[in-house]
Amino acid sequence: MADLHYQSGFGNEFATEVLPGALPVGRNSPQRCAYGLYAEQLSGSAFTAPRADNRRSWLYRIRPSSMHRPFVQVDAGGLVSDFDAVAATPNQLRWNPVPLPEQPTDFVQGLLTMAGHGGPQGQSGAAVHLYAANRSMQGRVFYNADGEMLIVPQQGRHRFVTELGIIEAEPHEIVVIPRGVRFRLELPDGPVRGYVCENFGAHFRLPDRGPIGSNGLANARDFLTPVAAYEDVDAPTELLARFQGRLWSAQMDHSPLDVVAWHGNYAPYKYDLRRFNTIGSISYDHPDPSIFLVLHSASDTPGVSAIDFVIFPPRILAMQDTFRPPWFHRNIASEFMGLVHGKYDAKADGFAPGASSLHNSMTGHGPDAATFEKASNADLSKPDIITDTMAFMFETRCVLRPTAQALQLPQLQHDYYRCWQDLKKNFTPETP
Ligand SMILES: [Fe+2]
Repeated sequence: MADLHYQSGFGNEFATEVLPGALPVGRNSPQRCAYGLYAEQLSGSAFTAPRADNRRSWLYRIRPSSMHRPFVQVDAGGLVSDFDAVAATPNQLRWNPVPLPEQPTDFVQGLLTMAGHGGPQGQSGAAVHLYAANRSMQGRVFYNADGEMLIVPQQGRHRFVTELGIIEAEPHEIVVIPRGVRFRLELPDGPVRGYVCENFGAHFRLPDRGPIGSNGLANARDFLTPVAAYEDVDAPTELLARFQGRLWSAQMDHSPLDVVAWHGNYAPYKYDLRRFNTIGSISYDHPDPSIFLVLHSASDTPGVSAIDFVIFPPRILAMQDTFRPPWFHRNIASEFMGLVHGKYDAKADGFAPGASSLHNSMTGHGPDAATFEKASNADLSKPDIITDTMAFMFETRCVLRPTAQALQLPQLQHDYYRCWQDLKKNFTPETP
């Protein structure tokens, strides 16, 4: 395998080849490709989509992707696609971190669906999964035909060996694998854990910045797409496919990670959340969390995202005469939160790295009683420099309906509601 190198930019027309001259010049499908390669297009948008949304790549590979035996449906394990099996609850939900597996478990076996809505048939909606794995995928390669996968590592180094190159990622980085791209997750240093947003709708893109201007938030040049890397392996390989909510398996006699060169703008990428340029108030009040938007998936309604990927990174709070932590709120959007690292500033405890929470549409939530007391009496003459944190949110337009298995997890905190019960009645009608 080649050394790891990346190409910088978001949705660019990348071009990369392992062997010199493997990329044809001036045409996509010459009569004969160099090195005896096969040309294959992988399209991730309608052929006629406007240029800004059009995504496709041309792959020059040892064998075409069609060379596998028939798929058979297999047990999907913790991967669930029916989000109507149990009643969606309006309760505030929070889970402790799910422990690492004790049995040998790879990434696909370690996926556990927590919530979701919609699905691949309507090409809209999202699913949220946790994963925990303790071994590399061996002789197995996976692709997701249903959705793009935004992966948020929380523990351990991850090595995504994809058709289009290799991405190494660690906690504080995110990885996006487009629909259809085949990959294997290897664990160079042992167990890994994290979160996945499976996006059934429009692909993630960078948001417009409006009055912020031409810089700030997530900058395009910090998104990294791998250069081509291939393996030429003639050995039995299992090809796993997530297709219409089910898991399917097909046998191959070679590795499908055999793309020697490719060009195009449909490819996996990673982004280091520590590079996010955080914008906030430098006078008073706490802006809406849309100020922390990294990537979003647009819905059919202008200005309304289907999914927002939002982070709460290290930052400085200097607002005056202001309750500085996030305020109490109810939103039309639904919020699945996780914590990659450190502490989250709206909660005194109960939300450890690897934990999750779900506050669905119009469900009241906000700082717990201890945080409210502390922040209401804080000395505002000095800024709060929040250093040791990285929380994130998958915020969706539609309700994220928890799965039965999520509601039955022993990690579900049945006493979560208590964190607000000690908020005092401070009302003094005689004293303003
Ligand atoms: Fe919230």
